[in-house]
Amino acid sequence: DDKTATDELKPAADAPAQGKPGKLAHEISRRRTFAIIAHPDAGKTTLTEKLLLFGGAIQLAGQVKAKKDKRNTRSDWMAIERSRGISVVTSVMTFEYQDTVFNLLDTPGHEDFSDHTYRTLTAVDSAIMVIDAARGIESRTLKLFEICRLRDIPIITFINKLDREAQEPLELLDEIEKTLALDTAPMVWPIGKGRRFRGTYDLATPRIRYIDQDPAGQPVSGPDDPIIDTLMEPEEVGPWREEVSLVQDACGSFDLKAFREGTLTPVYFGSALRNFGVRDLLDALVSYAPPPRNQKAATRTVEAAEDRMTGIIFKIQANMDPNHRDRMAFMRVCSGRLTRGMKVKLVRTGKTMALSAPQFFFAQDRSLAEEAYAGDVVGVPNRGVLRIGDALTEGEDITFLGIPSFAPEILRRIHLNDAIRAKKLKDALREMAEEGVVQLFNPVDGSQPVVGVIGALQLDVLGDRLTEEYGLPIAFEAAPCDTVRWFSSDDAAALKKFLERYRSTIAQDLDGDYVYLAPSIYNLSSTQERHPEIKFANVKSVN
Ligand code: G4P
Repeated sequence: DDKTATDELKPAADAPAQGKPGKLAHEISRRRTFAIIAHPDAGKTTLTEKLLLFGGAIQLAGQVKAKKDKRNTRSDWMAIERSRGISVVTSVMTFEYQDTVFNLLDTPGHEDFSDHTYRTLTAVDSAIMVIDAARGIESRTLKLFEICRLRDIPIITFINKLDREAQEPLELLDEIEKTLALDTAPMVWPIGKGRRFRGTYDLATPRIRYIDQDPAGQPVSGPDDPIIDTLMEPEEVGPWREEVSLVQDACGSFDLKAFREGTLTPVYFGSALRNFGVRDLLDALVSYAPPPRNQKAATRTVEAAEDRMTGIIFKIQANMDPNHRDRMAFMRVCSGRLTRGMKVKLVRTGKTMALSAPQFFFAQDRSLAEEAYAGDVVGVPNRGVLRIGDALTEGEDITFLGIPSFAPEILRRIHLNDAIRAKKLKDALREMAEEGVVQLFNPVDGSQPVVGVIGALQLDVLGDRLTEEYGLPIAFEAAPCDTVRWFSSDDAAALKKFLERYRSTIAQDLDGDYVYLAPSIYNLSSTQERHPEIKFANVKSVN
């Protein structure tokens, strides 16, 4: 492939909006909806803050960080979220840079890791993967990457903290290729690292960008330019030039198609803390990252540039205002243009609702969204009407596919101190499952339900809310299973037989789909071996 990075600098060449002239197509093609995936401490917060600074969304560095560490006094979040400093106001951040509208969706990386984190990744079109240059790929990065891979989300890699002790850049590339089975295309090459990190060399258009200096950088003739000799110790220059020729040959040039298909990642090196390399990332998002994708629905594919508005709810945040029991539903606009006040159909119930107060979120504030376009993420306040996966349309019955559930890693039973209120508990659990706080599995033999979560903090949130909101004092107990798997079979008779035989370890989720409650991982693999006619899955409904 002889395409070079510069050939591809035309914005969004294959935007679905292409061919449909007018404002709608233009608005949609200039949107980039993305997330940052990283292991805790890799620098996601620092990078977010610097990205927002470029976008003018915040005035001063330190504000996102302050939000993470301190309480938000303006808003009265739920007690537990306050005490842990979880920031819900930054669930999505909208900002503009170079005539591009960015929607940055937050994926909590710390102990508040949850089902929400996974679901959020279903609402983005691309992601930036931040890697700590000293630590390489870490467990959480890997997990989040695997979720991105399910949908072939294009990934831009940022190797951060070059200003500190770092692994060899070639080793880092090798690690990405091997661990993630992802091709790499370095776009810049670091000059020195740690205390001697001087900047980067742009591999496509020979140019040096110096740390802490004018980001435009200085054009050079190529890797042999004598300027480079002045930046390194004499014994370092030779190996550096060899490396550059190696990465230029071996990695070849950046291939936009492979990136868009999720099989190749452009790699940038920098330091978020020193605000170095951050603009490279924004430029990469503008030039290479895809505009809003088309969205698969049960009956057809909804194109982003269609005139009619459609949207999907992918996250629900409760208790934004405890006095009103409001819930904020986060909706990705999938097609068309949303205008404030428009009437939409909630497809699940067939009822009509008015979008009277859709909201945009910024680093610090929110504001009413007078209009929004495909790719945008808006908050829709509602009182428990909207659920995860809901479609809102201008009238068409559309069921969107692709908000997956992931097999929870933590499973519990709930002990209710007051048995008389079992019915209330049942209702409360169903509501929280609809909201996506927990996954709920009702055993087919009628025994106590099992709740499942991805992150331990979700259990605290569940316990806290059952007590405070529903007045149900509960305790968690061990569940009779270690893990769960959804199962199905093309062979109806075999499925029936399996259901009968394993009745005591089978439950149904909120949608009525069957799960196998595996008492142990060992049991799971032996059951799978014994029943090749049954398909087991740890993810539900991805396409
Ligand atoms: P996270 O959201 O991914 O968890 O990471 P965060 O940005 O909070 O960064 C984790 C730590 O790494 C912070 O230091 C931050 O200042 C530091 N850091 C981030 N990017 C860089 C970088 O490019 N170079 C260097 N040298 N450090 C970086 P901390 O000591 O935990 O917090 P703070 O006391 O500095 O606020």
